[in-house]
Amino acid sequence: MSPSTQTGSVTATRVWKRYRADSHRPGMRDVVRKALGRGSSTRWNWVLRDVNLEVPAGDSVGLIGLNGSGKSTLLKILAGVTQPNAGLVDVRGRVGALIEVRAGIHPDLTGRENTFFYGTVLGLTRQEVAARFDQIVDFAELSDAIDRQVKFYSSGMQMRLGFAIAAFLEPDILLVDEALAVGDVGFQQRCLERMKYVLSQGTTLLYVSHDMASVESLCRRAVWLDDGIMRAEGPTVDVLAGYRVGLEKKAARLAELLDDPVRLRSFEAVPSDSSSPETGRPVTFVLSLDAQLDAEVDLCIGVSEGPAQPIFTLTRRLTLRSGPNEVRCLVDNLPLPWGRYYVWMGAFDERGTSRMRWHPAAPLDVQGPPRQPPPRGVMLLSPVHVSASWRTREGAGVAPSPFPSLNGRVDADPRPVP
Ligand SMILES: Nc1ncnc2c1ncn2[C@@H]1O[C@H](COP(=O)(O)OP(=O)(O)O)[C@@H](O)[C@H]1O
Ligand SMILES: [Mg+2]
Repeated sequence: MSPSTQTGSVTATRVWKRYRADSHRPGMRDVVRKALGRGSSTRWNWVLRDVNLEVPAGDSVGLIGLNGSGKSTLLKILAGVTQPNAGLVDVRGRVGALIEVRAGIHPDLTGRENTFFYGTVLGLTRQEVAARFDQIVDFAELSDAIDRQVKFYSSGMQMRLGFAIAAFLEPDILLVDEALAVGDVGFQQRCLERMKYVLSQGTTLLYVSHDMASVESLCRRAVWLDDGIMRAEGPTVDVLAGYRVGLEKKAARLAELLDDPVRLRSFEAVPSDSSSPETGRPVTFVLSLDAQLDAEVDLCIGVSEGPAQPIFTLTRRLTLRSGPNEVRCLVDNLPLPWGRYYVWMGAFDERGTSRMRWHPAAPLDVQGPPRQPPPRGVMLLSPVHVSASWRTREGAGVAPSPFPSLNGRVDADPRPVP
């Protein structure tokens, strides 16, 4: 059997999908124009354009891309919830899907009834579902609510039930959308662990998320969708690197694109005593944030270089007032050698749910002495500036220095300015 026809494989070939740009019902004008043979005035948005995907059984693929790039639409097409306008989709095996908080969950049925109903849809017998039922209830933390109608569940409870059903009924293919963001951090962590387990049992995983770290930890391969087009496809690390650089290029427009309850309006790195940020010198990060409502958040600022994970992060709990807020963070001693970096930031509530998604804010150009290259064949993980003084004594072979050889430390503790 070829890899693309094995149980658990997912293939999408030249998939196109469009939606009406104005998803309203046809108006009188449209009806009259059509009757007069003038054609309809309908405008269409192509949401997926010529998307190709070949996922062999047991593989794990992350779908990444900005809001509106077509990730959920692709997952819905694979789940059979919606049809493509053109192209072929071949999904082999039982599909467990968490594609929207409510997808596949019937509001009038209880949690218990939903579990059995979904099991039947997946082709499991009553006994097979019953054997997994307690695990599902435990995982979803719904022991008190399992016999209540789902319409009385909070969105968090619905999501927990949806995930537990999808992930515990042993599907051949598991499709998970970033719906997980509504859960708290503890639950998200358990979902990640469950997905890893399910993968280890040979299930195929397609996972949509904004969270690059979870995509990196779960998925062997990734697909980057940009406005319905596949921008990149390949090993996760490579695709994430390209995505990160792409995001940084868009940084100026990102706040609007992300449309989060807390938005970054402006960011500036203001050096205290020079014209531009300098290695080992003080610098103040000045942020202007718009909050939709009063909110207590952990504001986190990180600095990355190119595609790397952040070199360091600075986090501070703050109370933001509805409307514009200015936040200043003074770094005493910028621990970065000369070069171009990128400042990222995000804001999270006490449960870790993002109020402002982790996103690039602005480039950061640091002046300073040139970097010292490491010896040939030695790779540096990420650049930091460590100030050090060296002494040698003549005549003594290897000199144990009377001074500590490193008197610098990477100090990433912010001192916010009130
Ligand atoms: N049912 C729908 N009717 C009209 N437009 C839709 C519908 N579903 C999604 N879209 C549009 O399709 C685009 C892609 O949406 P989506 O697949 O949800 O993106 P993502 O999951 O990457 O954020 C968006 O512009 C969205 O507004
Ligand atoms: Mg989506």
